[in-house]
Amino acid sequence: MRSTPRLLFVAILIICLALMPTAALAERFGTVTALNLNLRAGPSADAEWLATYPEGTRVQILDALDGWYEVRLPDGGTGFMASNYIAAEALAIDEPEATPSPAPTFDPLIGGATQQFGNASVREYGDDRLTFTAEYPVFESMQANAALRRWINNTLYAAQQMDAERIDVTIGYDSYWVQGRYIGVLELGDLLTATLEQQTLAFALNIDTWTDTVLTHQDIYGEENLGAVLAMVRDALAQGGESPVRLLTTDALQYTVLTNDGAAVLVPQVGQMQARLVLLPYATLIRQNLIAIDIDVPSVPQNENGPMIALTFDDGPGIYTPELLDILAENGVKATFFLVGNRIKNLRDTATRIVEEGHEIGTHTWSHQDLETLSQSGIESQISQSLSAIATATDTPVKLLRPPYGSYNGDVRQVCRKLGLSIALWNIDTEDWRTNNADETYRVIMDQVHEGCIILCHDIKESTPAAMARVIPDLIAQGYRLVTVSELLSYSESGGQAGVVYTHVDMGNRE
Ligand code: NI
Repeated sequence: MRSTPRLLFVAILIICLALMPTAALAERFGTVTALNLNLRAGPSADAEWLATYPEGTRVQILDALDGWYEVRLPDGGTGFMASNYIAAEALAIDEPEATPSPAPTFDPLIGGATQQFGNASVREYGDDRLTFTAEYPVFESMQANAALRRWINNTLYAAQQMDAERIDVTIGYDSYWVQGRYIGVLELGDLLTATLEQQTLAFALNIDTWTDTVLTHQDIYGEENLGAVLAMVRDALAQGGESPVRLLTTDALQYTVLTNDGAAVLVPQVGQMQARLVLLPYATLIRQNLIAIDIDVPSVPQNENGPMIALTFDDGPGIYTPELLDILAENGVKATFFLVGNRIKNLRDTATRIVEEGHEIGTHTWSHQDLETLSQSGIESQISQSLSAIATATDTPVKLLRPPYGSYNGDVRQVCRKLGLSIALWNIDTEDWRTNNADETYRVIMDQVHEGCIILCHDIKESTPAAMARVIPDLIAQGYRLVTVSELLSYSESGGQAGVVYTHVDMGNRE
């Protein structure tokens, strides 16, 4: 027998929302048909009248306790009734749903941290043929409680209708309290028959506690985004080496649960393929504008002891540079900008802003000339003129030359020695100037990144800020520390000398 959801039954941490007054409890539960009163005396009941109520009496449920319901009888008296004496059909009728929805089949292979939220309750039923236990959380939201109870009642009803000799149903739950506003609940369990036929049962519920509404998957992602979100889930399955064929329609997204780290989508079992939970991190959903609820992702500070890398941007300043600076600022990282001198005059505020926000500026010559084609005085003029333009806009010391096309010779090195400039090349070329495609830039960087690398990008390309909005948080998440080229070179064997050419830094030399 395969085990019932393991994590659901280990150490359940219950966080009580609030102690609910009895009046509110009475509202939460409906009036139902009692199969057998079997009452125990409650505060206002006594032994004399207990026996006078026949099977089928309508009783009002006041509260669900551990295996018992507190009920109010037609004459107003109250007492306690074992919960398995309440007719499941009656409960289902009280919250009508014509036909119980078919239970999806899932394998409960769920990972990740769980924080149980809501007051733990249990629905039990038992007869000669069927034992049924469903744990579920109770919240302040009547709508949420009704939805959970409806699913549990329908599941019990469906189990009662099954043609099997012996049926055991055990359902547990995971619940998450998300950003002080949303609650995500995953009900998950097994149905097992005497012939070892097994179904796994699942239900997902998400609540917005500010508006007291149950959220649909359309509410969570936005109706227009369902296709893109489904594509993300399919990509995740494909990356895990699985066929994404089992997710064909956006209906699959109704098994979304809001968790602390992201929206988790339960993917059904098909054939030999096990079911699994695909986590869509909130940061990714937000970056791609695929979330319609109010979720915040604070930027994660980079690891100050992590492996260092340098992002560099050539050919600016440009009209996309401010957007790029916003992204760098949001993520709290520094980069290096190699400016073309003759572009500074028209975008002087942008050049100033680069320095004010703590980034490094290097020269990319005055007019983007191939320095190998120039005389030594021509080389010096190209560089000096650009240094003057940078000095006028920023008064920052310039320590780096990036020669256009990476083209240099002995004359270039000699001029650099004279002007106190290191020659900063690169060892990862995104070719963003050619592709102008954020996905491609992202792929190149994430495929090739390694400690000590210098990454070449261009901030005059429209796609570059969009690529960086994804690249930078993911590099930080992988533990990298993004620094300026001069800081990176300070860890090189020669410490960043004038006239020396650097493509990267071998961190084996780092003390
Ligand atoms: Ni260039």
